[in-house]
Amino acid sequence: GLNGFPHFMLKEIYDQPETVRNACRGRMNVSEGVAVLGGLQSKMDEIKNLRKLIIVSCGTSYHAGLIGRYIFEALTDLNVEVELASEFRYRKLRLDETTGVLAISQSGETIDTLAAIREARRKGALTIGLVNVVGSTIARETDCGVYCHAGPEIGVASTKIFVSQLVILNLMALLIGRYQMVSLNEGVSLLKALNRLPDQVSDILARASQIDELARIYQKFDNNLFIGRQTHAAVAMEGALKLKEISYIHAEAYAAGEMKHGPISLIDENFPTIALLANDASYDKMLSNIQEIRARSGPVLAITYEGDDQCARHCDDLFRVPQTHDLLQPILTTIPLQLFAYYCARYRGTEIDKPRNLAKSVTVE
Ligand code: F6R
Repeated sequence: GLNGFPHFMLKEIYDQPETVRNACRGRMNVSEGVAVLGGLQSKMDEIKNLRKLIIVSCGTSYHAGLIGRYIFEALTDLNVEVELASEFRYRKLRLDETTGVLAISQSGETIDTLAAIREARRKGALTIGLVNVVGSTIARETDCGVYCHAGPEIGVASTKIFVSQLVILNLMALLIGRYQMVSLNEGVSLLKALNRLPDQVSDILARASQIDELARIYQKFDNNLFIGRQTHAAVAMEGALKLKEISYIHAEAYAAGEMKHGPISLIDENFPTIALLANDASYDKMLSNIQEIRARSGPVLAITYEGDDQCARHCDDLFRVPQTHDLLQPILTTIPLQLFAYYCARYRGTEIDKPRNLAKSVTVE
């Protein structure tokens, strides 16, 4: 049930510390710096020999895939592609047993993702599932896979499953990467960071009223831009998707480097930007993007990390998330964006758990 929450979406956002624990339970050997994923065991010889991984998925699960690319590139030798399942089917791809096709799906029933897996199998690729619903079609039709173990997600807007998918992508990449270039120390430090993550998620949730207050201000705008770089460009896409699907407020997402190639012409005092910053090599470039936006009178709400002492001078509003391992940072940046979409929708009075025109499981093409 709702456990006293007014909507399943909010309940599921608050489930997330537990969602992280459930995704990790029994799957970490911290002292050896390795992940233990029983569902991949039978195919481990094939998985170790993969040269290429193609991630296929739709919607929020596609955004998880975009972040997954960075995770696999950081931890493994694999060449990684990410493709919308609905487009994958129409490409002419040379697939063989050295290619793995990883389907990410909450429901395990999304027709385009299922069709992509069927096509990949026909062409001889190894198919892997990352699915929440146990016994679903994609779970049954893939060669091997990992479950989210997140329990049912009822809100049409996916929240906790996105977080679960990101956690498990890290575990999958670590499992493979420890046969390749990841050292013991690197493995241990990623797993220790995962152990700290639930408390860090709780820390953000305990400050949800700050996001509520920001949403009260920003929900009056009809258009928004979300920007970030690298993994946070994909988080920007997820933040924009959440906002449009439940509050019907128009939002676009861009990798921040694209601003001067077009989108900056949209900016004026009525077109705010939600800028996502991380403590990495892209930080200075993000800061200059923010300055360019402000120079054109665009309001800026920054989501940044604790310890960032520069950004506050350059933005109108700011929310800080704790710092974690680089590969886990997108998880923490996502949480305030989920809350932001939720509170904007509440101010707009929309049907949060069942947005118009959307279904939880898309079983038609
Ligand atoms: C967005 C959302 C959808 C799903 C998409 C894929 O909040 O829920 O975009 O992510 O329909 O669904 P699954 O993951 O079930 O394949």
